[in-house]
Amino acid sequence: MSIMLPAYPYQALLLQCRGGFENDCAAEITDISARFGATGYCRTRPGSGYVEFVPIAGGDLAEMLAELPFSNLIFARQWGACLRTLADLPVNDRISPILAELKGIGELHEVFIEHPDTNEGKELAGFCRKFFHPLRQALEREGIRIGANRHAPRLQLFFPRSTEVFVCLADPGNSSPWPLGIPRLRMPRQAPSRSTLKLDEALLSFLTAKEREARLKPGQTAVDLGAAPGGWTWQLTRRGLKVTAVDNGPMALEAMGSGLVDHLRTDGFKYRPPHPVEWLVCDMVENPLRVTALIAGWLCRGDCREAIFNLKLPMKKRYAMVQECLSLIQQHCADAEVDYTLACKQLYHDREEVTVYIRRR
Ligand SMILES: C[S@@+](CC[C@H](N)C(=O)[O-])C[C@H]1O[C@@H](n2cnc3c(N)ncnc32)[C@H](O)[C@@H]1O
Repeated sequence: MSIMLPAYPYQALLLQCRGGFENDCAAEITDISARFGATGYCRTRPGSGYVEFVPIAGGDLAEMLAELPFSNLIFARQWGACLRTLADLPVNDRISPILAELKGIGELHEVFIEHPDTNEGKELAGFCRKFFHPLRQALEREGIRIGANRHAPRLQLFFPRSTEVFVCLADPGNSSPWPLGIPRLRMPRQAPSRSTLKLDEALLSFLTAKEREARLKPGQTAVDLGAAPGGWTWQLTRRGLKVTAVDNGPMALEAMGSGLVDHLRTDGFKYRPPHPVEWLVCDMVENPLRVTALIAGWLCRGDCREAIFNLKLPMKKRYAMVQECLSLIQQHCADAEVDYTLACKQLYHDREEVTVYIRRR
């Protein structure tokens, strides 16, 4: 459920992204905001892990945020409407200047204290943790109620350094539910590879709990292209799905132990299933346009019902490449008259890549 943010003269939209992807995040928000009549420019520093979008005309950010679903953005992990940037915070009292910016706010849904997810930024994690309770107490002393109203905005304080803060408000229903946009996932001890977390996060991000329960259950079938050593396969078998794992490389014992896996040493671009499957997943390191065409083919022929796949992006213009891939899907599906829903995101566990989710309607 989305809310309208209070009508303040927000100075910018603050977007958090993976360090090194600031240009892609900036290209995306500039492109998308123009479609909402909010022309603006971006302030960004390479490697900083965030982008400021400053509207210059028609720039009612609260209105734009109410209309633009956060889930439409690929490279932003988190966002918030920035009331003010406070530089040179006094180290003996950072709280008073922050409170001064929140005059008129009666209620907050919750409070996130965030920092860039970069090597530099991670050093601020302890500081942010320690800041939380004194801030919360100070907010309550000011008469700001926290947590009682689901329709109230979230306060997001983003510290690029310990003496500077972006004071932001966000709609809890139209932003990432996790601070920094990072879900807390444990690496399962039995899983054969760390990339198991990529599929775990994708399922958590793209499907609701109800959808996961209904559409990932024992008896269902899946194909995993580029499966070795088996981290993604393991996520599927752990939910009881039968998996055909396609890879010339060896599968780890942990992935095969369930008895639900059939390993085929063959080319993922040539393999076709003898019967349609519910799920196709693909993590092959290959040209993104080639992978996109492959998955679109599966979906349009009805070889699978839904798919999750990675697009590896070793090139410079990553936003442009992803757009090209998404257009290719649109074209294939239009030609085949297939109706679909699609989501694409650079997840926390994605590196030089994004994850796409697509489902036939
Ligand atoms: C990033 S790894 C996959 C990791 C896997 N998702 C996991 O969680 O363990 C990529 C895999 O794709 C496989 N691969 C690349 N091209 C392939 C192709 N044309 N056919 C089948 N597998 C391929 C590689 O052998 C490699 O094992």
